[in-house]
Amino acid sequence: MDKFIIHGGHRLRGSIRVNGSKNAALPMMAAALLLERDEVLVLRNVPDLGDVRTMGTLLERLGVRVERERATLKLAVADDTPVQAPYEIVKTMRAGICTLGPLVGRRGEAHVSHPGGCAIGVRPVDLHVRGIAMLGARVKTDHGYIVATAKRLRGGTVYLGGAFGSTVTGTANVLMAAVLARGTTVIEYAAQEPEVQELANLLNAMGARIEGIGSYRLVVHGVERLRGTRWTVIPDRIEAGTFMACAAVTAGDLLVENVRAEHMTAVLETLREMGCGLEVGSFSVRVRGPRRLRPVDLNTLPFPGFPTDLQSQFMACCCLADGISVVTEKIYPERFSHLPEFCRMGARGRKYESAAIISGVRELHGAPVMASDLRAGAGLVVAGLAARGYTEVQRIYHLDRGYDHVERRLNAVGAKIRRVAEKAKEAPVRETGTG
Ligand code: EPU
Repeated sequence: MDKFIIHGGHRLRGSIRVNGSKNAALPMMAAALLLERDEVLVLRNVPDLGDVRTMGTLLERLGVRVERERATLKLAVADDTPVQAPYEIVKTMRAGICTLGPLVGRRGEAHVSHPGGCAIGVRPVDLHVRGIAMLGARVKTDHGYIVATAKRLRGGTVYLGGAFGSTVTGTANVLMAAVLARGTTVIEYAAQEPEVQELANLLNAMGARIEGIGSYRLVVHGVERLRGTRWTVIPDRIEAGTFMACAAVTAGDLLVENVRAEHMTAVLETLREMGCGLEVGSFSVRVRGPRRLRPVDLNTLPFPGFPTDLQSQFMACCCLADGISVVTEKIYPERFSHLPEFCRMGARGRKYESAAIISGVRELHGAPVMASDLRAGAGLVVAGLAARGYTEVQRIYHLDRGYDHVERRLNAVGAKIRRVAEKAKEAPVRETGTG
């Protein structure tokens, strides 16, 4: 297991480029399952990440040929008979659930391992299951697998509202199931995240007929078949926001390139409130961190609200702000595993129900800390960059699932991060992947 040793206290300066979005690329890859044999889906700007490779392996098991050349993936269906997404793959990457909709929609049957809970909370899939069932599939759980069958799905009205709003991958699943269904499907309370919008745009380019993209209400007119196409994956707004937090916390001056600012309104507003100077260009944002950040009240919310996937990175900033911040988690009430790690570095904060109350300190100090999921790990890197002395971040395999060579890219703008291979003293933890 590798770890990072971060020598903190260096201001980040220069420019850094954001890669394609992991959470946009993963369901787009699963959309290849909808293709006729020998049709090819070409995805450009696909990040080279653990989760993307895992999705590639899963699709290969499902009869898809996957070829990568640099940032371009070519996906083509060689065999359209396999229907099993096995436990040993889905347990390491929750996005494996995105194969459920296209498998049952195109192949009439899906056996997808139940992804279970994970480090950021319970994460049920009841809305996915309800949505697929509303389109006429028979759905049951069998020995840990969600088994869905339907000769051909039929259009219907699907409501995707749950206790915490809509569902991102649930909307992707129902959308991919509905595009080949007979008749018209209305998805009420669809997720509006840019990753879902882009999936819908891609499906339309493949021949689907989806209306209302970007709204709460998607109308899908089923078609007989889809064709291949070429598509460029949008920039990763979470990676962009992580780099912005790194600039903010180190009083840095960073030009973050390949950014869609319209996907990041809430994040940019938060940076302004914290006292950062921003210059928003057509595809870039320059962030200048102040000498001392101002505290904020932060609520994570579904898009266009502040993303839960940037909560830990911005909490790291709050730890050093000049006053008391309140960070309320409205998507995953238990997503605070980074807080005790920040406290090991000298932060002052405590959790109260689904919020953390952080009293900013002047200085954090390096300490050994542990990443328990992908974004918690990103938050620890942000904190480590600002801390005095050396921070050792353990279990960075979580980070590698979502950030491509993050240490190299941050070192190029002034960070001092070393990757150290650590002899496994213990077996890798067998928790479910988060992403
Ligand atoms: N929920 C239900 N029932 C469901 C589905 C979701 O109650 O059937 C609840 C969840 O427990 C949560 C809320 O609804 O409280 C939202 O969950 P959602 O389904 O939207 O999350 P997801 O689709 O499983 C994606 C991202 C996550 C990101 C969330 C929220 C991918 C592959 N994953 O997960 O990304 O946190 O949306 O924006 O797109 C990450 O990249 O680190 C990551 C965890």
